Amino acid sequence: MAEFKLPQNSQIIEGKKVDAAGDAKRKKTFKVYRWSPDDDQNPRLDEFTIDLEKCGPMVLDALLHIKNDIDQSLTLRRSCREGICGSCAMNIDGTNTLACTKAIDDVKGDVKVTPLPHMPVVKDLVPDLNHVYAQYASIEPWLKSDTPAPERERLQSAEDATLLNGDDGRGPSGCILCFCCSTSCPSYWWNGDKFLGPAILLQAYRWIADSRDDAADERLDKLEDPFRLYRCHTIMNCTNTCPKGLNPAKAIAEIKKLMAVRA
Ligand code: SF4
Ligand code: SF4
Ligand code: FES
Repeated sequence: MAEFKLPQNSQIIEGKKVDAAGDAKRKKTFKVYRWSPDDDQNPRLDEFTIDLEKCGPMVLDALLHIKNDIDQSLTLRRSCREGICGSCAMNIDGTNTLACTKAIDDVKGDVKVTPLPHMPVVKDLVPDLNHVYAQYASIEPWLKSDTPAPERERLQSAEDATLLNGDDGRGPSGCILCFCCSTSCPSYWWNGDKFLGPAILLQAYRWIADSRDDAADERLDKLEDPFRLYRCHTIMNCTNTCPKGLNPAKAIAEIKKLMAVRA
């Protein structure tokens, strides 16, 4: 029987174990992915056991405690600390999510933390987002209007705005571009060079659905391609994983409906 193995240098090995909790009453162990481009070492999982009284309640609080007080070489992205910037997206306990809104208490046992899957890694928990941002630029995410700019903002009816904001505030304009969805999508894993993936397609729909934008046809033309749009096979991982509760799979279905109507 054929045997498949990862190349030797991509196998994750055991890393160091640091007990920084002593005899603390509330302890938790974090197994954190580490990899540096600056040496020839394999990626590894370092284990840090910490005193939960020394950090806040979220996984990001624990990672920052580890970085500030135990191992300053740990590298991660974060900014807002409240689920708005999207920069702390990573895989925690097997699910792509935001470290700043994921409660430590929600994870039973040790907390395994790895970067967003199927992205090149810059260092430790930091994925390389260059490709996905180039894909974002390709959908031209700005208003295109045939009418001259008014003196004040372009107004929209409450009904039209609901298409963007959603009845429950979970419409496409709530997307924070964290890419938890795209990196959980099997089609994006295998065809991410050509398939735009759920995050970018949700953004494309956000502009197509905007009543102030006059370029819907042009935007649909650019998506009319066997890979860019139609690699979505409605597997729904994207919607299941979105930490903001958005529905990229529905946005993709809406684009496909618009394509069918104009065909
Ligand atoms: S619904 Fe489409 S975009 Fe979402 S995970 Fe499935 S294949 Fe990917
Ligand atoms: S749809 Fe959700 S998971 Fe995807 S990029 Fe936007 S906020 Fe993140
Ligand atoms: S730090 Fe901004 S979303 Fe987590």
